[in-house]
Amino acid sequence: MILVLIRVYKLVFQYSMKLKTIDTLKNLKNKTVLVRVDYNVALKHGKILETERIERSFETINYLVKKKAKVILMSHLGSPEGKYVKDLSLKPIAYFLDSRGKKKVAFVNECTGEHVKSQAKKLKPAQILLLENLRFNPGEEKNDLKFSRELASLADIYVNEAFSVCHRAHASVSAITKYLPAYAGFNLANEVENLSKLLGGFKRPAVAIIGGVKISTKIKVIQNLLKRYDQVLIGGALANNFFKAQNRNIGNSVFEKDYVALAKNLLKNAKGKIILPIDLRITKKIKPGAKFVSVKLDELKNHQNFQIADIGPKTENYFESFIHRSKTLVWNGPMGVFEIEPFNHGSNYICQKVASHAKGPAFGVVGGGETIALLDRMHLKAWPDFVSTAGGAMLEFLEGKVLPGIRPLMK
Ligand code: 3PG
Repeated sequence: MILVLIRVYKLVFQYSMKLKTIDTLKNLKNKTVLVRVDYNVALKHGKILETERIERSFETINYLVKKKAKVILMSHLGSPEGKYVKDLSLKPIAYFLDSRGKKKVAFVNECTGEHVKSQAKKLKPAQILLLENLRFNPGEEKNDLKFSRELASLADIYVNEAFSVCHRAHASVSAITKYLPAYAGFNLANEVENLSKLLGGFKRPAVAIIGGVKISTKIKVIQNLLKRYDQVLIGGALANNFFKAQNRNIGNSVFEKDYVALAKNLLKNAKGKIILPIDLRITKKIKPGAKFVSVKLDELKNHQNFQIADIGPKTENYFESFIHRSKTLVWNGPMGVFEIEPFNHGSNYICQKVASHAKGPAFGVVGGGETIALLDRMHLKAWPDFVSTAGGAMLEFLEGKVLPGIRPLMK
């Protein structure tokens, strides 16, 4: 009984999650506001390949500038493991911010120390300063108190505008909130609001489509959604673990040995909610333009030395039938080797169907780096109701966790 009450309390607590947002701050004039953004974007020779994450931070930055606050932006980029790595400098992002905004964005090539302090002190109302990559300092990923205190000493107020790193208990996300009053930026609040709609009070049928390669990173989401949703459609190499659990021949396809027993258990207990592909595109070797055949599951046993590269055409229609009926829809992860033609067919097909249905009859959310790359590439007219820029953070949120970066922002 007590356990049931605790679970109910946790659910109510989580889905009525109210955040302290920056618009509740009364007087921002002359205040220095340290904003954690997520500018962890793909760069090639200093050129930014995707700007969505950066652009989503503009609403909060513009708001602070309008209110005459002094703005200090901080972010990580890549995994430099506590050392300076030239290619992972945030300097190109400062140029990009400069070129997009009417305001000049100054850049400082450290994130703590005397020089940074003096640059921060020199800021005038409505000016913006971007700090160097936080992860050049080992204290960031260690959630180090000293490092977070040094960051905090630069400002009066902390704003978290980086939902996509909220699953990381890092110094600029978690420990810093011990030293400064902490608020949520507009984009972070929007992410939490939309993703919360997927976990409570949603319309049925509720359908999740989970694809990608590593079941180890998605198993908890699958388990949580199986408890709540009507169907969970599985695509990509994730499905191979379930085929293995059914003792099917998957040739040389990737799977994770340690998860096969769990997949078997899920299939047994999911009461038919797990929907697997019914046919597959298989090939001898996954490479651009490779020949392939589409086979039904029962025909897999007649083949040798093959790799499963995509869902098959019958599965595309089968999955579409669930998408079509859904009133709540969430999609994360491709259906096959979407980077390589012709094995992008299943992912492209599902992408189109999800986008148009999620724009129309269903409330639909799409997230994860690869899934967004797919949406971008397809140049679709209709986009889902909400596209999360988060990968790991979205998954952990949908697992039902209160993320370490979100907890300090709650009222
Ligand atoms: C992301 O890209 O998902 C976030 O920026 C977090 O990055 P990380 O996985 O390197 O912590």
